[in-house]
Amino acid sequence: MKYAAFIASILLVASLVACGNSDGQNNEQAQRSSSTNGAELSSFELEHGIGPITSRMTIDDFDLGMAQRGREIFESKCAACHQMENRLVGPPIKGLTERRSPEFLMNMILNPNDMARKHPEGQKMMREYMMVMPFQNISEEEAREIVEYFRKVDKGL
Ligand code: HEC
Repeated sequence: MKYAAFIASILLVASLVACGNSDGQNNEQAQRSSSTNGAELSSFELEHGIGPITSRMTIDDFDLGMAQRGREIFESKCAACHQMENRLVGPPIKGLTERRSPEFLMNMILNPNDMARKHPEGQKMMREYMMVMPFQNISEEEAREIVEYFRKVDKGL
């Protein structure tokens, strides 16, 4: 009987210690994810977003054909949530190319999940719009075409 009580108290202490540990870890994780001010991001990532695009791109002269393809993709896969002038489910598109680099916009389109969780700008938007934009199954080439369409909008063409 005594022996059983002894074992029971050991088990109790062991489980308390285990709980304590895992709580500690969870707290640490929670703190880390809520207080990422982008501290562990590279300076490229801070300015241009979290990859697949990991270096500056060469942006050639404006390409109307590309912008036209971008527009078609936008209308079928993005317009449910984005308008040009006004906030809808997501932020308005107009003016984006003046505030963000093409690489940032492409990373936002191609990797919205990591952007919302790990990038300070993405975290800000996620709080404001109360959701994470779902990835729309867009290829890098298509994302580039969409950015060309955004450039067209901002140039007023
Ligand atoms: C289901 C709704 C939804 C769809 C569909 C959607 N978005 Fe978004 N988008 C959002 C939300 C919400 C945000 C704000 C960021 C966040 O909360 O994840 C956002 C943010 C963005 C941003 C960042 C804007 C900034 O200030 O940097 C870009 C660029 C963008 N979306 C482009 C697109 C493109 C291009 C498509 C289509 C391929 C698309 N979105 C489809 C909801 C959507």
